[in-house]
Amino acid sequence: MRVPIRSTRRTGHRRFVGALSLALLCAAGATAPPAAARTPGNPGAAPAAPAHPAPRLPDGLAKTPPMGFNNWNSTHCRAEFTEDMVKGIADLFLAKGLKDAGYQYVNLDDCWALPTRDANGKLVPDPRRFPHGIKAVADYVHSKGLKFGIYTSAGTKTCNSAGFPGGLGHEKSDAQQFADWGVDYLKYDNCNNQGVDAQQRYRTMRDALRATGRPIVYSICEWGENKPWEWASDVGHLWRTTGDISDSWSSMLAIARQNLPLAPYAGPGHWNDPDMLEVGNGGMTDTEYRSHFSLWSMMAAPLLIGSDLRKAGPETFEILANKDVIALDQDALGKQATVLASESGRWTLVKHLADGGRAVALLNETDRPQRIATTARAVGLPQAAGYRLRDLWQHRDTHTTGAIAATVPAHGTTVYRVTADTNWATYPPAVETGTDRTPLVEAGASTDIRSTVRNLGGTPARNLTVTLKAPQGWHATAASPATARALPGGRSLTTTWRITAPAGASPGAYDLPLTADYRSPRGERVTTTLPGTAHLVVPPPAGTAYAAELPWLTAANGWGPVERNTSVGENAAGDGGPLRIGGTGFTKGLGVHAASDVTLYTGRRCSAFTARVGIDDEVGDRGSAGFEVWADGKRVATSGTVTGADAARTLTAAVAGAETVRLVVTDGGDGIDYDHADWADAKFSC
Ligand code: GLA
Repeated sequence: MRVPIRSTRRTGHRRFVGALSLALLCAAGATAPPAAARTPGNPGAAPAAPAHPAPRLPDGLAKTPPMGFNNWNSTHCRAEFTEDMVKGIADLFLAKGLKDAGYQYVNLDDCWALPTRDANGKLVPDPRRFPHGIKAVADYVHSKGLKFGIYTSAGTKTCNSAGFPGGLGHEKSDAQQFADWGVDYLKYDNCNNQGVDAQQRYRTMRDALRATGRPIVYSICEWGENKPWEWASDVGHLWRTTGDISDSWSSMLAIARQNLPLAPYAGPGHWNDPDMLEVGNGGMTDTEYRSHFSLWSMMAAPLLIGSDLRKAGPETFEILANKDVIALDQDALGKQATVLASESGRWTLVKHLADGGRAVALLNETDRPQRIATTARAVGLPQAAGYRLRDLWQHRDTHTTGAIAATVPAHGTTVYRVTADTNWATYPPAVETGTDRTPLVEAGASTDIRSTVRNLGGTPARNLTVTLKAPQGWHATAASPATARALPGGRSLTTTWRITAPAGASPGAYDLPLTADYRSPRGERVTTTLPGTAHLVVPPPAGTAYAAELPWLTAANGWGPVERNTSVGENAAGDGGPLRIGGTGFTKGLGVHAASDVTLYTGRRCSAFTARVGIDDEVGDRGSAGFEVWADGKRVATSGTVTGADAARTLTAAVAGAETVRLVVTDGGDGIDYDHADWADAKFSC
């Protein structure tokens, strides 16, 4: 969690409420959604499965998780949230094949109404946004064969600070008004609830909706505050399990972590809701958005598109309309994926499917490629000679005799649908590709890496050719065979590559994709490419080399970018303050936020590292962190836990012979709140 001093509520695009501001807001009469836990580490132990099957609503709605659109994540209450936008989205559902892919609901969020009810106590649509009223928009949406949803709060006012009317005490009349307009879906929020018991508030609206006689999907949005998974299966069709998502990798992942352990509570007609999708809003890479969409589908989460599709590019549509992945979300069995393994940022998730198969997601939370592996047996499939293995992002069928393994790019997710299949041999064998390391090369110099291609199948991969595509002007030459006439099942081809960077190449990361091309015994051609990176590195200067002045190979932070010579500001580059620990100011150093990991290239030329480490004074006495120095994969120094109350500690490490040094900050064991950690005066002797 970020430092509350700068927390804002309901104004900024990213809204996080720290403990302090939460207390202040509550005192002021508002209720704030809790920010998602931002503690890295393993998910909590899954709660025991409910003893009895959960009671259900008898209406048969939401047999699979609802799919559709909601404007909140893209517009909040800005002026572009209008009738035109909503109609435009409905049009695009048809034009872009989203309706065909299963998206159905077009939903309005907060700010559609005027702040006061009319003389009859009825809600009044904002005439600037909805000049023809809500019914006209609902009719338009219905005319496209789609369904229409609306929003209000189980409180006296909605969540927006402008204070639109809420449903508390008006349940019957509001539910009837919604039904009269043709509403098919209600999101019922939690703000300004006046401390009235949540179960009572949400049940009252359930009964009011039921009394209208119109089938309306009922979305409980109380942010998981009262553990709705324990009582809401016969109250609503879905319930939010967390605070609000924002458009960042860390927020998305923190929410997934909170939602994953709740798997036993989800099922047809009653779903865990980890909040709406951010895909396409611009705060994550396409790789991260694919992970987001994979995770939500594995978790049988509602798939509510949260970006303005009128501005979306082809990548966004490609992700959102991935029918292979959507089929997992919409699988009739309605099981939420469980965590089979989670270690050092490598996650294996498994979802049981109605056809007896399993969806397996291999998620790499880290900033480097990682090999993640499991087996058909471990994911619970019956013993069989072979399995069909469908890659749901590549849309390719292969087979395996049991191994399920991939090198997954940083922040990426590989998703397979695995089925015991007597016809397995009709699919080409799956191969797993990987390299032993990410090459670091100085301009004009060379380095060697090894690639391995392993046949996971039971039939040979014929005419195998392995290529490593060097960046423009570079060379990648195979120093050992890179082809095989036939690679039998279970066997590997390992190739040594000499990689040479041109003199004068600029420092930075370059693409280095590894491709394996082969044919199945039936002649089907398979080409699989693993994205990879080569780093053009510069040696550190001789003498004293400051960490803030060296280029970084990787720089990961719990919040915001890593800063040079300032503390971390949590949002954009350059928004930190002066480095200061225990009253002492420093002009040089790195400002980070736990959990952080910065990799520097020392090129075997430095002997020692020293820094003054501690929590920056700007967070007061709060926060705690542990500082670690790693030389080529070996931890060579640790600070122990330091807190916001401590003075700067000196940390020294011997790094002689190391090609890279990693400066790691852990959360001190208590989550990452307030952990503004400074590597003050961090320098190497080279
Ligand atoms: C709450 C909800 C959000 C959104 C806003 C609208 O924060 O959790 O999803 O509906 O209110 O103000």
